[in-house]
Amino acid sequence: MRSFVPGEGYSEVKNIAVLKNLGAALVNGGAGFLGSHLCERLLLRGHSVICLDNFSTGRRANVEHLTSHPHFRIIEHDVRQPFDIEASLIFNFASPASPPDYQRDPVGTLLTNVLGAVNTLDCARKTGAIVVQSSTSEVYGDPTQSPQRESYCGNVNSIGPRACYDEGKRSAETLFFDYHRTYGVDIKVGRIFNTYGPRMRLDDGRVVSNFIVQALRNTDLTIYGDGQQTRSFCYVDDLVEGFLRFSAAGSTCHGPINLGNPGEFTVRRLAEIIRDLTNSRSRIVHLPAVVDDPRQRRPDISRAMTELGWQPQIELEAGLARTVEYFDGLLAGPERAEAV
Ligand SMILES: NC(=O)c1ccc[n+]([C@@H]2O[C@H](COP(=O)([O-])OP(=O)(O)OC[C@H]3O[C@@H](n4cnc5c(N)ncnc54)[C@H](O)[C@@H]3O)[C@@H](O)[C@H]2O)c1
Repeated sequence: MRSFVPGEGYSEVKNIAVLKNLGAALVNGGAGFLGSHLCERLLLRGHSVICLDNFSTGRRANVEHLTSHPHFRIIEHDVRQPFDIEASLIFNFASPASPPDYQRDPVGTLLTNVLGAVNTLDCARKTGAIVVQSSTSEVYGDPTQSPQRESYCGNVNSIGPRACYDEGKRSAETLFFDYHRTYGVDIKVGRIFNTYGPRMRLDDGRVVSNFIVQALRNTDLTIYGDGQQTRSFCYVDDLVEGFLRFSAAGSTCHGPINLGNPGEFTVRRLAEIIRDLTNSRSRIVHLPAVVDDPRQRRPDISRAMTELGWQPQIELEAGLARTVEYFDGLLAGPERAEAV
């Protein structure tokens, strides 16, 4: 009997209990960075898993190792178009997530979040599924409070270059809560703070992947702005565990709930840690700041701790070490030429 062990690929499973069938889980955006880790964990828990994706920013390679699993299926589909899939649990993770990805097609990003939410909620309404939304810390915009609590309404520039994503996610949250109030759909809204780990793309433009790839290539580590802006970084396994607990939290727990690591680091400090971890000869250089880049990001996770019994377990250095190992492997393989 074979099953999937996160981060290690398939291996022999001693405990057959993990293979009991918990029903179908649909993962929109299942071929993406977070979605693919979620698919693995759901299979391991005993769900049959349907991965729905249009492969715009995700990759088949992220789920290739799952395709031989008897309870795993891929459906190529765009969430902007309606769909009707029988599942008892739906995770809506379909959206471009890194600034270069979501700014490439801003109108498409906004519509993916708004129409994707409507189509996902309509599907859940028909099947009676629990539906979990991957929202974001970006709903807080450039916050005037720190740490950010769920009760904080945020400070988003509705007409800036990031608004397609921020306002798309805010509208999706509104739709989720209106479907709950109007139609009684069992919703869960999780607000994700920066999450990193294996399967990020070499060229996705996120700060962790940028710095690691630059450090491994011994090229300059580029900081946008003065580097004193802060971020909180959550390792992917912790984040997925938070979402799994949330999905099983019962029909009175809807969120929004912040899911992230409350450790706060300046971007400059992150660059230094990564340079040290990789023994890199890279210099750290500064480029002009990005428009509407938040100065401060740090989740208050007391609600997740109280309602889900969850908090991150993996320290930044440990998570970064695993991520460096992943990118090191990629750069040694055929993707090196593709990405240079
Ligand atoms: N990684 C983070 O730090 C982070 C932070 C906050 C929120 N999120 C949210 O988590 C979710 C997953 O993010 P990720 O980091 O894995 O990004 P990702 O780009 O790796 O994954 C997104 C997936 O959605 C798919 N997708 C995009 N548009 C689609 C559409 N119209 N129809 C069907 N599929 C579509 C992509 O092909 C990809 O597989 C996103 O909704 C993102 O907004 C992520």
